[in-house]
Amino acid sequence: MSYKGNFKIWRGDDESGGLEDFIVEVNEGEVVLDIIHRLQATQAPDLAVRWNCKAGKCGSCSAEINGKPRLLCMTRMSVFTEDETITVTPLRTFPVVRDLVTDVSYNYQKAREIPSFAPPKNLGLGEYRMKQQDVERSQEFRKCIECFLCQDTCHVIRDHEENKENFAGPRFLMRVAELEMHPLDTEDRVREAQDEHGLGYCNITKCCTEVCPEHIKITDNALIPMKERVADRKYDPIVWLGNQLFRR
Ligand code: SF4
Ligand code: F3S
Ligand code: FES
Repeated sequence: MSYKGNFKIWRGDDESGGLEDFIVEVNEGEVVLDIIHRLQATQAPDLAVRWNCKAGKCGSCSAEINGKPRLLCMTRMSVFTEDETITVTPLRTFPVVRDLVTDVSYNYQKAREIPSFAPPKNLGLGEYRMKQQDVERSQEFRKCIECFLCQDTCHVIRDHEENKENFAGPRFLMRVAELEMHPLDTEDRVREAQDEHGLGYCNITKCCTEVCPEHIKITDNALIPMKERVADRKYDPIVWLGNQLFRR
């Protein structure tokens, strides 16, 4: 069963652009990326879109569908009604390269700013041991496909370009949390999260968790525990005393 669907697709670059109307055939079982490909094949051969796996695993096809950050390849056409106009726009938080393709290099810059895993220096081979529950805790975070939908939706940078310098965003605060929860890591991740990666900007709106296609509980399992560790360090008198002694 097929029908003609109405689409508005954003065309342009960072300087100028706008929504263009298209009528495209929609077939049973298709996803929004199928429609974009049909549009390229039949009406707009120069339409730019980034994609790779068409299986929700590479994180390339991130865009906004009816204003919501989504993966184009994982959004089924069956979630829309046949008479609905579907609007596809590029991620709003990042500069547009062309059409639906954005420049997500902000995210790679933030990734580079996080010091890598730092195990104790004198551990030998075979001494890297951790408990199963610690493995499981970080495994949830390792499901991330780096689609940056969480980064796109977080209001701290979505509406405030000026915050980008000081805020790593949920995906990378989650990376800091993952390292902090690693029993062998020796870096002071709690201080780094607060002072260098902007944890304090997050006011727990949970929008990042809502859009994550891997259903990672970014806010509950990474951001809130990090905030609790920051608060413990600041207000717990024993932790405070330990820090004072340790610094001497
Ligand atoms: Fe995408 Fe989820 Fe990873 Fe964010 S945490 S980049 S939404 S997979
Ligand atoms: Fe942003 Fe997620 Fe915090 S959307 S404000 S990082 S809970
Ligand atoms: Fe790989 Fe969509 S094309 S996640």
